[in-house]
Amino acid sequence: MSEKKEHWGSSFGFIMAMAGSAVGLGNIWRFSFITGQNGGSAFLLVYLGCVFLVGIPIMLCELTMGRAAQSNPVRTFHKLGPERSNLSSTIGVLALVCAISFLSFGHFFYAALFAIAGASFITFGWVTLGVLYGAITPLFILAYYGVVGGWTLIYVWKSVTGQLNVHTVAEATAVMTPIIMTPKGYWATPLIATLAFMLTTAVIIWIGVQKGIERFSKIFMPLLALLLVVLIFRGLTLEGASKGLRFLFVPDFSQLSGRSCLAALGHAFYSLSLGMGITITYGAYLKRDNNLPRSTVIIALLDTLVSVMAGLAIFPVVFAMGFAPDSGPSLIFKVLPLAFQKLPLSTVWNIIFFVAVLIAALTSAVSLLEGPVCLMVEELKWKRSRVLLVLVPILCFVSCVITLASGDYSNFPKLGEFIQKTFLTTQGSLFDTFDTGACQWLIPIACFLTLLYAGWVWGPKEAVKEMRSGSTGAMDTHCWHLLSGVHEYNVTGDPSPLSPCVIWAFFIRFISPILVLLAFLDGLGVFR
Ligand code: PFF
Repeated sequence: MSEKKEHWGSSFGFIMAMAGSAVGLGNIWRFSFITGQNGGSAFLLVYLGCVFLVGIPIMLCELTMGRAAQSNPVRTFHKLGPERSNLSSTIGVLALVCAISFLSFGHFFYAALFAIAGASFITFGWVTLGVLYGAITPLFILAYYGVVGGWTLIYVWKSVTGQLNVHTVAEATAVMTPIIMTPKGYWATPLIATLAFMLTTAVIIWIGVQKGIERFSKIFMPLLALLLVVLIFRGLTLEGASKGLRFLFVPDFSQLSGRSCLAALGHAFYSLSLGMGITITYGAYLKRDNNLPRSTVIIALLDTLVSVMAGLAIFPVVFAMGFAPDSGPSLIFKVLPLAFQKLPLSTVWNIIFFVAVLIAALTSAVSLLEGPVCLMVEELKWKRSRVLLVLVPILCFVSCVITLASGDYSNFPKLGEFIQKTFLTTQGSLFDTFDTGACQWLIPIACFLTLLYAGWVWGPKEAVKEMRSGSTGAMDTHCWHLLSGVHEYNVTGDPSPLSPCVIWAFFIRFISPILVLLAFLDGLGVFR
């Protein structure tokens, strides 16, 4: 299979495609509003810590697994180690215990979910994790990511046609509310926008990895950076912009709580696209001469740089115009058009900004669809076009239902009743249900189990062997020697005890799983 496998054309193309996956709505929309809500600079510092201490080790782990197996996530777990181990059976049994507890409380839906997962772990072992990774999580996320993509598309259209020339908060709210709430009589626009976004994503995937994703990312990622630079320049030249800079770069630790630290950790997974099989899938398209540790650090740095650039583009404008930074998820959609309105050439700034967000959303959506498509091509031996013909209509259907129930269930009262009974939620929309399901359940669980697998089943020894191929030997050299610049690369024998590979192995075995578990428990509300 490996001779036929498509590979990245160049290291630059691979890095741009990975950055394209990582850089998305998370960096611009989500990063800016949670940074605004958590006090700015101190949160940014903690976020940087999370990226380096947890994000980079997990990303390196997923890339290494993908390249070692040269295969989709399901086969990766099948190829790299024993299909079943004591650990996978224990996980299965624990899931069954959870299922019984849910049953005793009369929560049939969750009981069924845990029973299926438990039985699958006991019967198929780690391959279950591959299926969760390779198909369930990315499709689940894409279904609602496409809805936000649709909103962005509408905002691009509205900015081009001058409909974002709003002057008051009430006017800005009046523009946004119908898009999200899809009231009777206004559902066609959001629906068409969601479909257009999904179909564009499908066309890029249909064209293929090198011609499609790689070429698309190589052109659009640098363009996105350029657009952000233009916006930063505009923001920084405004009077009062320095308040925004102070908010972003002068730490005020009194604003920080345990909750914001865990929010930073959860956002790091989301932003780096971890726990969704994408990194494994993209790693499988890599040739053995790629320097994995170097690529990982570059990708994480690029993703973080774009988040910081987005912050730099947004907060100086917000402060210069006298708006509050903690307005929540509506920050970019409501506040920025209002803020831009007070600048000369407001329509141009609106267009530049929302086009940048749209590009970021598209490159991420492309990566979400590529994983399941690659999996089905390899496992079912179908052509890409056939997989897309089956998958895309189903996805579009689900996305349309989420679009129509993204504010409340007024379009589908029966569906609302069903969802609320099934998921035991009393409030929120279908959009919220998907968001919570993905970010608080699927991603942390997948990250945690992958770390257990890599750290304790496949084993750091094998992982480090794979990592050495294409890397210079820096991974085996003492950190102190590397930092002081007096190193001679150690390529033979035991690694130095304080070398990056030893530190990494320690992280993936102990530190990272504990931190992921904390983030997961926080998502469940244990610390509230
Ligand atoms: N990392 C993307 C963002 O920050 O918007 C979101 C995302 C894309 C998550 C692709 C997961 C993924 F597989």
